[in-house]
Amino acid sequence: MNVLHVCANPKPTEESVSKQLAAAFFAKLIELRPDVELVNVDLYDEKPPFYSAELYRRVWYPVFDESYEPSKVEEMSTNYASKQAEAFNAADVLVLTMPMWNFTVPAIMKAWMDQVLCPGLTFSISKEEGVKGLHKIKSIVLLVSSGGVYKEDDDRDALSRQVRNAFGFIGIDDLEIVWAEGQNPLFFDNHEENKAIAIEAASEIAEDVAELDLNAAAQEVAAG
Ligand SMILES: Cc1cc2nc3c(=O)[nH]c(=O)nc-3n(C[C@H](O)[C@H](O)[C@H](O)COP(=O)(O)O)c2cc1C
Repeated sequence: MNVLHVCANPKPTEESVSKQLAAAFFAKLIELRPDVELVNVDLYDEKPPFYSAELYRRVWYPVFDESYEPSKVEEMSTNYASKQAEAFNAADVLVLTMPMWNFTVPAIMKAWMDQVLCPGLTFSISKEEGVKGLHKIKSIVLLVSSGGVYKEDDDRDALSRQVRNAFGFIGIDDLEIVWAEGQNPLFFDNHEENKAIAIEAASEIAEDVAELDLNAAAQEVAAG
């Protein structure tokens, strides 16, 4: 099983609740599936560039005009995106680790999504066939921590909506969320308890992921 782990958090693990969820998740997953091929992308080590006009032309102009020939500069603008897309397309499972910042994903994670979710790299798009994934990701696990508490469908939560919609667009509908909520100690006396519950949940989700039948998933993708 190939797992791509993308982490958007500048803090060391001992200071980061979301990274502690990731630690619990991977400890259990690797215990149960020692065959896991894990690729770690720490976005603070591999910083994504912001989306450029060259990247836009390189990936979108050919969608609208098959004969479009990109310039050298446009070709080079996909360096980061292509490398990340390669890891993305090789993965069976995607794990995203991040805190909630200003009610959504950290900007560095959004920049990575803008790079990776490009036509021709991780999905194809045409009038005849619509949007089709070029990846084989079966499931996404979102490991998130927040100061506040957001009930399901809370309008303020733009983070889980962002992740669900962006990856749903390219055909990944299975999203498992582990959320360490109420981590602001000023307002939540039970923040440690909330963290412990989430760490336990991360471990349980790892058990589910370990049991994913990836052969069946691959056949489904092949069948379209
Ligand atoms: C820049 C910034 C913005 C934040 N915005 C929010 C927010 O919108 N909602 C919230 O509940 N917590 C917010 N927080 C609090 C963090 O989500 C919370 O401390 C979380 O536990 C951090 O996770 P970590 O320990 O993995 O870094 C914010 C923190 C920072 C630093």
